[in-house]
Amino acid sequence: MARLFVHGGFPMSGRPVRSRDRFLVFGAPAVGEEEIAEVVATIRSGWLGTGPKVARFEEDFRRYRRAEHAVAVSSCTAALHLSLLAAGLRPGDEVITTPMTFCATVNAIIHAGGTPVLADVDPATMNLDPRKVEERLTSRTRAILPVHFAGRPCDLDALGGLAARHGLFLIEDCAHAIEAEYHGRPVGGFGRFGCFSFYVTKNVTTVEGGMVLARDEADAARIKMLALHGMSKDAWKRFSDEGYKHYYVVEAGFKYNMTDLQAAIGIHQLRRVEDYWRRRLEVWRRYDAAFADLPIGRPAPPEPHTRHGLHLYTILVDERTAGLSRDAFLAAMTAHNIGVGVHYLSVPEHPFYQQRFGWRPENTPNAMRIGRQTVSLPLSARLTDEDVTDVISAVRRCLGAA
Ligand SMILES: Cc1ncc(COP(=O)(O)O)c(C=O)c1O
Repeated sequence: MARLFVHGGFPMSGRPVRSRDRFLVFGAPAVGEEEIAEVVATIRSGWLGTGPKVARFEEDFRRYRRAEHAVAVSSCTAALHLSLLAAGLRPGDEVITTPMTFCATVNAIIHAGGTPVLADVDPATMNLDPRKVEERLTSRTRAILPVHFAGRPCDLDALGGLAARHGLFLIEDCAHAIEAEYHGRPVGGFGRFGCFSFYVTKNVTTVEGGMVLARDEADAARIKMLALHGMSKDAWKRFSDEGYKHYYVVEAGFKYNMTDLQAAIGIHQLRRVEDYWRRRLEVWRRYDAAFADLPIGRPAPPEPHTRHGLHLYTILVDERTAGLSRDAFLAAMTAHNIGVGVHYLSVPEHPFYQQRFGWRPENTPNAMRIGRQTVSLPLSARLTDEDVTDVISAVRRCLGAA
């Protein structure tokens, strides 16, 4: 007789797809022996803080993204904050961004003294809709901050055109989009700054970490200086074998530097970035094929002449067609011992922004609907074929389609 188990109030028959002791952790990164050896060697070297490994990781990343300048920092949040400051944001300047993002995007604007303004997303791409951005322009608009959501490049022609016509600067949030390209060029190089994340669930991880790409040397130098207390150029070298150097504080900066311990991981992660991307493409294609007959939304195909970063595989669970709510689906997947994520509840769902800016989810309805229906399935390069089979079985069983 089939066993009945209940999780989160949702009754299910049969055994879970995986046992509890094999719980599939959402976003667990693929980390190899090289990273482990490099971390150990870095600890043994005695130089753990910002130093030569950070410089090498910056150079490797700069080449990979075919950029002019790359500055490593402690997170993408720091990268966004410093980029907005370095671009010269003034108090009260408005920055138009997307409600379909992590809170860090909006918080960075607030911390840089700006006023965030939300424009709704396109329902298919889930990226900022340039027409909605245009509707939100005012005399106070200073910048546009698009997010390449899930790894899908935004409509950079339209957004770049808007920015150029209205004298605005563009800062790209590339937290999901390390490998993404738009019309043959890597994303992150279209705006004045491109900001990347190496958080633990990202396509390349340093556990915590970020990178700023800049086209202008002076911009890159300012970011570097602001990331280390506002100390003058190359202050990190003050303890190196080049002999003690005095540094001078030229601005009240921040403590946003990356360490060699983090870069030790990043250097080897980056060497495998394309292999990981190809592995995620295989997983993506298996999901696409396995879910084609299910009553759920699947990611739209990539736009022509773009390369998707394949960071998040998101499905949409609409209770009216799927037969269960999104939250019941999340609970059911967890009961099958498959970790899932939500990227994201739209930003106006959070009380802080409602109170501070009077935002309401209904004002950006596409983002609201996506945020209430979306589920991210495991997509790490670490997944085995068997893991993928388990995810597929669990999704099908949760939807009564096994
Ligand atoms: C779209 C987006 N922007 C910014 C961030 C912030 O990145 P970090 O955690 O590196 O500060 C994240 C992180 O999850 C993100 O997903």
